[in-house]
Amino acid sequence: MSERNSDIYEPPAAVVAAAHVSGRAAYDRLVAEAETDYEGYWARLAREFISWHKPFTEGLDASDAPFFKWFADGTLNVSYNCLDRHVEAGQGEKTALIFEADDGQITRVNYRELLARTCRLANALRAQGVRKGNRVVIYMPMGIEGVMAMQACARIGATHSVVFGGFSAQSLRDRIEDAGAVLVLTADEQLRGGKRLPLKAIVDQALALGGCESVRSVIVYQRTGGAVDWQPHDHWLHELSAAQPTTCEPEWVEAEHPLFLLYTSGSTGKPKGVQHSSGGYLLHAALTTKWTFDLKPDDVFWCTADIGWVTGHSYVTYGPLALGATEVVFEGVPTYPDAGRFWEVIQRHGVTVFYTAPTAIRSLIKAVEGQPQTHPRHYDLTSLRILGTVGEPINPAAWRWYHEQVGGSRCPVIDTFWQTETGGHIITPLPGATTLVPGSCTLPFPGIIAAVVDESGKELPHGHGGILVVKKPWPSMIRNIWGDPERFKKSYYPDEFNGQYYLAGDGAVRDATTGYFTITGRIDDVLNISGHRMGTMEIESALVSCTELVAEAAVVGRPDETTGEAICAFVVLKQGRPEGDDAKAIASRLREWVAKEIGPIAKPRDIRFADNLPKTRSGKIMRRLLRSVARNEPVTQDISTLENPAILEQLGQAY
Ligand code: WT7
Repeated sequence: MSERNSDIYEPPAAVVAAAHVSGRAAYDRLVAEAETDYEGYWARLAREFISWHKPFTEGLDASDAPFFKWFADGTLNVSYNCLDRHVEAGQGEKTALIFEADDGQITRVNYRELLARTCRLANALRAQGVRKGNRVVIYMPMGIEGVMAMQACARIGATHSVVFGGFSAQSLRDRIEDAGAVLVLTADEQLRGGKRLPLKAIVDQALALGGCESVRSVIVYQRTGGAVDWQPHDHWLHELSAAQPTTCEPEWVEAEHPLFLLYTSGSTGKPKGVQHSSGGYLLHAALTTKWTFDLKPDDVFWCTADIGWVTGHSYVTYGPLALGATEVVFEGVPTYPDAGRFWEVIQRHGVTVFYTAPTAIRSLIKAVEGQPQTHPRHYDLTSLRILGTVGEPINPAAWRWYHEQVGGSRCPVIDTFWQTETGGHIITPLPGATTLVPGSCTLPFPGIIAAVVDESGKELPHGHGGILVVKKPWPSMIRNIWGDPERFKKSYYPDEFNGQYYLAGDGAVRDATTGYFTITGRIDDVLNISGHRMGTMEIESALVSCTELVAEAAVVGRPDETTGEAICAFVVLKQGRPEGDDAKAIASRLREWVAKEIGPIAKPRDIRFADNLPKTRSGKIMRRLLRSVARNEPVTQDISTLENPAILEQLGQAY
């Protein structure tokens, strides 16, 4: 079935009139400015958006390409830019965060309070011996303390690495070890959808697995009051903070100082620590928050992403606060207590700019069938002005529902394309400048030079699908893979393009007439499950690490209406091929195993067993063929080179 997507949506006149980037001509002027004087364009914005401690004199330093530097001789402090400067400008009483907890409890924090509390925590971290350049792992629930923890690290120049609360002890351990973290910030438990989930206990397990000897202390935020086992290196966050003053001299760091690492999945079994800068990163987080969402001082911004993902970094912790905005921070899930929760939150707080993921939209569309009272029409959503989506392609049907049912056909739907590695939006409409086409992320953000090329790096004519690249380095791009510069080069600046282009890892096609980009999906072994990135190799290595049961495994994705993609595992067991109830029981054991190894988000949806995997005579697993099997499609590939064609039949049964 193909969806109609020939319709176009002009930016509403009222939005254009008041927009920061007003009209297509204004967008074109910015693009032209960046084309004529690329470094000058970014330097102008870096001066406008960031309060520098020591001004920079240099824009881009490409002398050690592809390890690019931006504004390298400037110094700044990111938390100063997000907090102090607004207080100094007389905005101390302005609400920074409106926190809505899972159970509906609401807490407001203004800029003055957020600064004071962040300073206390920053002092506490210093008192624990944390210094500039040390790594701190944050394994915390979504909430004020999580945002504060990140800001407190930034304040003292510690590099944070936030690990999403859904990752297992094993995954947490791996990230702590790889980063060589000196301290872990966590909570007793997290509260989601009415359920309490342990966090501190998982930190205990992670540390007990070994290899985390760099960790000297663990700071625990008391979220639920649930029971915790206490270790000699544990401290309560409230006790440490209470003993500290409410001011803390910021650590002025060089623009290139690593603000954070964020681990993400790639084509190998090992997640990579994406390393971001301070100056260039903050610039793009602030700039895109302002232009992409057309954010004004009176807006109430709400990005639903967790701080465990990059979206929660750029559009919860850094972008909105750098602008001195008011934002909602939400602890819960979209379906609790019912599927109307998002609309209720928007109504309650008068949210004007709303940013969420296609998966959430699709699951709420579906939920309305069973709970008609949760339809957005039953809520007052007239405060909304701009709607955004991120994380995966949004299909035109979901786009239109979002536009009509949530936005009352008044609000531009901004489909933002970007990645953990890009730091912020790189291809996106701007509300007052871009004509929208459902299913397309439209045009590059001004200053991003994106293109679609073939395998040799040659630019393709519009209308031809190819590989998405960025032709020039930009300020918020990934600086390195922590501890693995070789992998950085190979992953993002491959030899095929002479090390000249940043390789996004996605395919794209540009519209023949408008030049608009449509993302066609990953070109590597990375899956996108509900907007969460998972490497097939990671799941494979988790499965084969169950040595008691598994001899061999291969993982592919198949399309899924709600989650975008679903994980399908093909497994060869040591005991031979199980059937019936035995197969069901083993499939559920393997799912639990993967949840324990990586986290529940990596559990395979389908598991299929066979005596062997389909391989070529040279021993290569035929993944394209497995993808057809996973989709229950007829196999059209040439199977003449297949070692054992009979196993195709065995793979038919999914558990
Ligand atoms: C991958 C990056 C960007 C923050 C959250 C995910 C896919 C992201 C879109 C979009 C089509 C998208 C791409 C990309 N993706 N946004 N608007 N349209 N695809 O960050 O975990 O680093 O994943 O998500 O495949 O490469 P991430």
